[in-house]
Amino acid sequence: MELHGANGYLIHQFLAPNANQRSDDWGGSVHNRIRFGVEVAKAVTDAIGGQRTGFRMSPGNPLNDIDETDPADVEATYTALIAGLTPLNLAYVHLLENPDRELTKRLRKDWPGTFVLNPFTHPQSTGPTALRLIEDGTADVITFGALFLANPDLPARLAAGARSTPPTPPASTAATTTATPTTQPSKQDRCCPARQHPAGQHQTYKSRSRSHPFDPDSFHGPIARFDG
Ligand SMILES: Cc1cc2nc3c(=O)[nH]c(=O)nc-3n(C[C@H](O)[C@H](O)[C@H](O)COP(=O)(O)O)c2cc1C
Repeated sequence: MELHGANGYLIHQFLAPNANQRSDDWGGSVHNRIRFGVEVAKAVTDAIGGQRTGFRMSPGNPLNDIDETDPADVEATYTALIAGLTPLNLAYVHLLENPDRELTKRLRKDWPGTFVLNPFTHPQSTGPTALRLIEDGTADVITFGALFLANPDLPARLAAGARSTPPTPPASTAATTTATPTTQPSKQDRCCPARQHPAGQHQTYKSRSRSHPFDPDSFHGPIARFDG
């Protein structure tokens, strides 16, 4: 089981100072903001064991209106989170990277277990060249999103050094271009919106209740759902 501590989901909301407005033991200080993620991880590892549990995180990712634009706070928060997760002997930590490669390297250094990386490769999706990040020690495992969708046999292609089919825009792009030509987000906005936007710039999606970027309905439904 991978716990989703990334992309503005609940655990991420506890981590982020703008989303976590609590004044009790679950909000405010870094120590308090990481508490929810660590406690959830503890509960899950108690139930199924650390080696069956992973944890995804995305430091500095503005998706779903998360504001983690203070580099010092991001560093302190995720360093503390890694430290809090360390005793749980998780199967892995999975970092969805924003542009800060140095932060990735520091967190990787702190994490004693398997470090899985979905590297920041904007404007391209993660491609085979990212595998060098395993060779240079930045990560133990690289994850592929869009490329895997375009190539269900991706592991075999990578192993063989074979060419892969480039990812294509979501199926809804052509239809939605006709529907609302002036406000339509780009293909990248839909696929991996957080990583289109440097720290401090928020993405097109304004309301999780109206439009979830990874909801299949959002990918194939009317574009108006994207326009906050
Ligand atoms: C169609 C699609 C659906 C995705 N769904 C999710 C999701 O449900 N949860 C999640 O954490 N990330 C999701 N992602 C983001 C990917 O996990 C990944 O972080 C992103 O695609 C960037 O990696 P890439 O450059 O290898 O594609 C999705 C991406 C795509 C393209």
